Amino acid sequence: MNSASDGGRPPAGPTVGELLREGRRRLAGLAFQPPPREAALLLAEALGWNEARLLARSDATVATDVAACYRAWLERRAFGEPVAYLFGRREFYGRDFAVDRRVLIPRPETEHLVELALGLDLPKAPRILDIGTGSGILAVTLAAELPAARVVATDLSLDALQVARANARSHGVAARVSFLHTDLAAGVDLGAIDLLVSNPPYVDPEAELSTEVRDHEPHLALFAPDQGRQILHRLLHASAGLRPHVPVLWEIGYDQADWLAQAARESPLVLQAIHPDYAGHPRVAQLRRR
Ligand SMILES: C[S@@+](CC[C@H](N)C(=O)[O-])C[C@H]1O[C@@H](n2cnc3c(N)ncnc32)[C@H](O)[C@@H]1O
Repeated sequence: MNSASDGGRPPAGPTVGELLREGRRRLAGLAFQPPPREAALLLAEALGWNEARLLARSDATVATDVAACYRAWLERRAFGEPVAYLFGRREFYGRDFAVDRRVLIPRPETEHLVELALGLDLPKAPRILDIGTGSGILAVTLAAELPAARVVATDLSLDALQVARANARSHGVAARVSFLHTDLAAGVDLGAIDLLVSNPPYVDPEAELSTEVRDHEPHLALFAPDQGRQILHRLLHASAGLRPHVPVLWEIGYDQADWLAQAARESPLVLQAIHPDYAGHPRVAQLRRR
């Protein structure tokens, strides 16, 4: 992005300080209450600066195209669009992933699933299935962390698969990740899979969600009928084709542990543990094929 200058000549545009004040005013008093430092975050990104440099140079003038980009982001942000969509990226497990409104924004709690997967006793060249890959964070991260792994990643959304493919290419794992447009695991040879992972849609459509989530993230990625349980319930039974004892890791909603424990009893899977997220909520279900 273009930069700013300290001048000598007449200012070509507004100063950093003026734009920050304008941004703070625009974002103040919004119902979803963005953090006060967001104006600085947006302006720093537009300038390609870090926030320390930004705050130290409040008199610098900002080129008009940079100011225009910042103001456009401010407007989108004021309507609740998440910062990750404005910038087109979000970090996950130490890597930057391209994201846009076609995919769910990666959440930090999903990193627990990666940690647990990497701690499993897997074959040297494991074959991994990621159901509902979205931006591809699980498929791509596991392929990158396990250089001999081969991954199949499915999604019902063609749009999401385009984003995931681009992420596999930019992280150099495209040759080991194949993407499949399908419902759950339909068409996948489950008998060849050594690990099944999924962060499926599990939000109750009736749940109260912030406008940032409900109005901007894809509903196919968020919601499942039957209090958010329908896809998890289908996954339990869709896993029947796995070989005995193959491990399964799923992210679940913070209030779905008891239901899952009950539902798993009547399924081809055994629930072994439910691991908490950073906030202590039960979040990653560890199961295996009976
Ligand atoms: C919660 S998002 C997870 C995305 C990504 N794995 C992550 O952790 O950020 C769920 C994904 O499942 C996909 N999905 C929803 N229903 C599906 C189905 N029946 N079969 C396959 N994928 C599905 C959605 O399109 C979405 O990309």
